[in-house]
Amino acid sequence: MRTRVAVIGSGPSGLLLGQLLTHAGIDNVILDRASKEYILGRVRAGVLEEGTVRLMDEAHSGARMHAEGLPHDGFSLAFDGRDHRIDLVGLTGGKRVTIYGQTELTHDLMDHREKAGALSIYEAADVTPCDFEGHAPYVTYEKDGVTHRIDCDFIAGCDGFHGVSRRSVPDRAIRTFEKVYPFGWLGILADVPPVSHELIYANHPRGFALCSMRSTSRSRYYIQCSLDERIDEWTDQRFWDELRRRLPAHHADRMATGPSFEKSIAPLRSFVAEPMRFNRLFLVGDAAHIVPPTGAKGLNLAASDVHYLFEALLEHYQDRSNSGLDSYSAKALARVWKAVRFSWWMTTMMHRFPDTSDFDQKIQEAELDYLTHSRAAATALAENYVGLPF
Ligand code: APR
Ligand code: PHB
Repeated sequence: MRTRVAVIGSGPSGLLLGQLLTHAGIDNVILDRASKEYILGRVRAGVLEEGTVRLMDEAHSGARMHAEGLPHDGFSLAFDGRDHRIDLVGLTGGKRVTIYGQTELTHDLMDHREKAGALSIYEAADVTPCDFEGHAPYVTYEKDGVTHRIDCDFIAGCDGFHGVSRRSVPDRAIRTFEKVYPFGWLGILADVPPVSHELIYANHPRGFALCSMRSTSRSRYYIQCSLDERIDEWTDQRFWDELRRRLPAHHADRMATGPSFEKSIAPLRSFVAEPMRFNRLFLVGDAAHIVPPTGAKGLNLAASDVHYLFEALLEHYQDRSNSGLDSYSAKALARVWKAVRFSWWMTTMMHRFPDTSDFDQKIQEAELDYLTHSRAAATALAENYVGLPF
């Protein structure tokens, strides 16, 4: 088989890139080792920047997101028993975010891809990017006991943090940067109305908490936990009690609780691989970088990578210019590092670290106090939260 772009990974990065290419008439094939059902069963974050919303529209996949997504004009920082609203719209000259689960976005992209008749191969084993350092790259994979080969012009490595693309690059050609945080997030999904119509990020002596949502009737809540915590020791009741303790009383008192239908612990990590291009192989999204979820940047960074790569491929095929491909890595990384910085900063400001000293504690309090009393500081937070331009 031959295609122009072989896309490894059918997460948001691969699907979004695939849709944009398909609509531009650039032939592509998506390969994933997992099944469609497995991918749609994963629970991930759900805050979309305006740039991500725009790309979903460009990919002709935004209709349901506009109908069902919830526009949020602000969010709340809670500490010291009080709430402080960050007015995103007021501070950024009209920008907001949209609450729409990544699972739903993935669903929409898969549906539209199917309707467009573009090829996705699921449950492809042993996917291997080959010869990308030369002029004639190809990807091999196994399906139903048979080895297949797809010849292509370019390979897009959209296969997440644990994927094969980054691992295929020789060590000498890649540099990685990593920070692992000494705690995790215990998250639940429950069909109860959210405690507030906007998100609440809470800094509390017992640890961070986040009140988020998927809809007006489905809540997504998180509490900071230690990494050796066992999920089976967290009954729903224990979770609700702990979450309430970490919120200002006026929220805790009116919080609706109920049975959870998803509960999991996620570690927190910052990671960046440089560069993001290896001749005809391009890394996109989680394959190249991971951020802790505190700033809600993971999916949005994947979207900006896709934007840069799509524009570069368009330029290559339409204008016969490689300048976009040549600048992809530098452009993407410049935005990646700013989001990595922001996610690290918000994580550091909002969590209790095992070795937090009284000094560190006072600095955290001063930072939060500054944010809530200085328009300049709040503007910097808001500008990053709604997403730097791309
Ligand atoms: N071969 C083929 N497919 C693979 C392989 C492999 N060796 N390894 C991983 N994959 C697939 C996974 O099954 C998954 O469907 O690649 C896909 C990667 O998807 P994501 O992990 O969702 O990564 P990405 O599309 O870059 O999405 C970024 O997802 O993880 C969140 O926080 C992140 O929100 C951000 C977004
Ligand atoms: C979520 O809804 O899952 C979510 C929202 C905001 C974050 C992280 C996760 O910062």
